[in-house]
Amino acid sequence: MRKSAWITLKHQVKQAASQKTIFAFCLKKSLKLLRLTDYEDEIELQMHPRPHYGYCLLASAKLAKKLGISEISAIEFGVAGGNGLISLEYHARRIEEITGVQIQIYGFDLSDGLPEPQDYRDLPYHFQQGHFQMNFEELHSKLTRSKLVIGDVKNTVKEFFYVHQPSRIGALFFDLDYYSSTRDALEILKADPNHFVPRVFCYFDDVVGGVKELYNDYTGERLAINEFNAQNNSVKLGVPYYLRSQSNTRWKDMIWIAHFFNNEKYNATST
Ligand SMILES: C[S@@+](CC[C@H](N)C(=O)[O-])C[C@H]1O[C@@H](n2cnc3c(N)ncnc32)[C@H](O)[C@@H]1O
Repeated sequence: MRKSAWITLKHQVKQAASQKTIFAFCLKKSLKLLRLTDYEDEIELQMHPRPHYGYCLLASAKLAKKLGISEISAIEFGVAGGNGLISLEYHARRIEEITGVQIQIYGFDLSDGLPEPQDYRDLPYHFQQGHFQMNFEELHSKLTRSKLVIGDVKNTVKEFFYVHQPSRIGALFFDLDYYSSTRDALEILKADPNHFVPRVFCYFDDVVGGVKELYNDYTGERLAINEFNAQNNSVKLGVPYYLRSQSNTRWKDMIWIAHFFNNEKYNATST
């Protein structure tokens, strides 16, 4: 089969498999059994838990590789039971195999669940104090490589680079629920720009929701993003319009890119 015909066929099969039907489900299983998909296809077809974690981490590792960066860090803000970190560990393993870029993983959490909401901006009509408690011992025994950073992000973010000496940060996953906690976690972007890959993939968990949450630009994570952009000039959280234009799945509307304009590698060719 000619290469272009094969690419068209693969595209059509992927389109069919991306639907939410029983046929699509069976097609995905068959593609996997026959080893006709690679990791990137599997992310696109949502064949792993949290494909958005894999997408951000892979994009970041690929960028790092092009820029000659051999190791990156990924952070999840808001760990709770740890399912996100466990998923991140899986994706990191796969991505290290593909790209050769090594990945460190950090998880920030208070460990005793959501704190008291500060005001209406923390959406107390939806989130309540004490939700999402962590069982530290149990989680610690399940994790294979992630490091837990326990405490209020307001404090732990300030000490992070000094205490942990992480490799350049390439991906950030925000799942702290509140406006106030997300605002405090975003302070990390104000550190030395060379602590980061020049463009960092950021996922925000609470920006779309549904009729119960009614997430909007004036409260919650979206307000924290908007305020950050209004107050900072050398780092901006930009919308990746290419993803918005192919929004066949909700997580593509939940990613922003932190651009570090003063990063020493920001202008280096990466395409
Ligand atoms: C929705 S849960 C995280 C769920 C997790 N990402 C997952 O996918 O399983 C939110 C977490 O954010 C943490 N959190 C909220 N505000 C915080 C703060 N100011 N500092 C540290 N952790 C905070 C809470 O302790 C809670 O465990």
